[in-house]
Amino acid sequence: MDHMTDDLHARLRTDRPHSARVWNYLLGGKDNYPVDSELGDVILTTFPEFAAVARLQRRFLARAVGFLVREAGIRQFLDIGTGLPTADNTHELAQRIAPESRIVYVDNDPLVLTHAQALLTSSPEGVCAYVDADVRDPARILAEAAGTLDFDRPVALTMMGIMGQISDADRPADLVADLLSGLPSGSYLALSDGTNTNEALNRAVAAYNQQSVHTYHLRSPQEIGSFFTGLDLVAPGVVSSPAWRPDPSQPSETAAEVAFCGVARKP
Ligand SMILES: C[S@@+](CC[C@H](N)C(=O)[O-])C[C@H]1O[C@@H](n2cnc3c(N)ncnc32)[C@H](O)[C@@H]1O
Repeated sequence: MDHMTDDLHARLRTDRPHSARVWNYLLGGKDNYPVDSELGDVILTTFPEFAAVARLQRRFLARAVGFLVREAGIRQFLDIGTGLPTADNTHELAQRIAPESRIVYVDNDPLVLTHAQALLTSSPEGVCAYVDADVRDPARILAEAAGTLDFDRPVALTMMGIMGQISDADRPADLVADLLSGLPSGSYLALSDGTNTNEALNRAVAAYNQQSVHTYHLRSPQEIGSFFTGLDLVAPGVVSSPAWRPDPSQPSETAAEVAFCGVARKP
């Protein structure tokens, strides 16, 4: 093992659950360790609808990217808290409609880093890049993304299930504002996160927080709405994820309304 591999191995911490790996398990993926699936099962025992909620979140990503490319004319994406590669990653969704789309993925999980090649399968007309960075370092993210994205043209900042990873002490709204401050007028924010409105989910997340390397911070729908302050929300505003521009061609599935989302334009 060379030094880098040693370092990566230490960061992987296969003895403690990680957010990206537990999420992968809940989505039915195989890129996780027994500690992750065991905690995933605790979550599913406490709040059985969680797997459906995870799938609904991915479907919101697909609809939001579809709207951004088709209706808003966006061709550049900065996707923060990407997660492990799965079906319909952001670049696949965007490039299926506009092959010239350029995507920068950002995550700080070491396993996501080792799987990043699967996120870098850009169409020849477009570009994909991966930045191993923490969302709490917006200046570094913007500096590295500038190597791939043209910040004189609009960018969609996609933040799905990532602000919940950030405690109030780390000022999540300021992080969103700092990232948006680097993007030009006409850029967009698409964001979704879990809400604190369901007792069983609150208990499931409390169990997760006791065991995981990370903690998740469920917020009220109003707090999730406040991430869009200063932006022009597109209809229907900040709503429960399945209610955001439903697409009859997607599989129909219902679950408790425990994730809120929105898409908004920077004036
Ligand atoms: C719940 S998953 C969501 C994945 C994907 N966006 C989706 O919606 O399917 C949260 C992701 O955020 C990443 N993450 C957690 N804390 C982070 C941080 N401080 N900086 C960057 N990424 C982080 C995790 O590694 C994980 O991949």
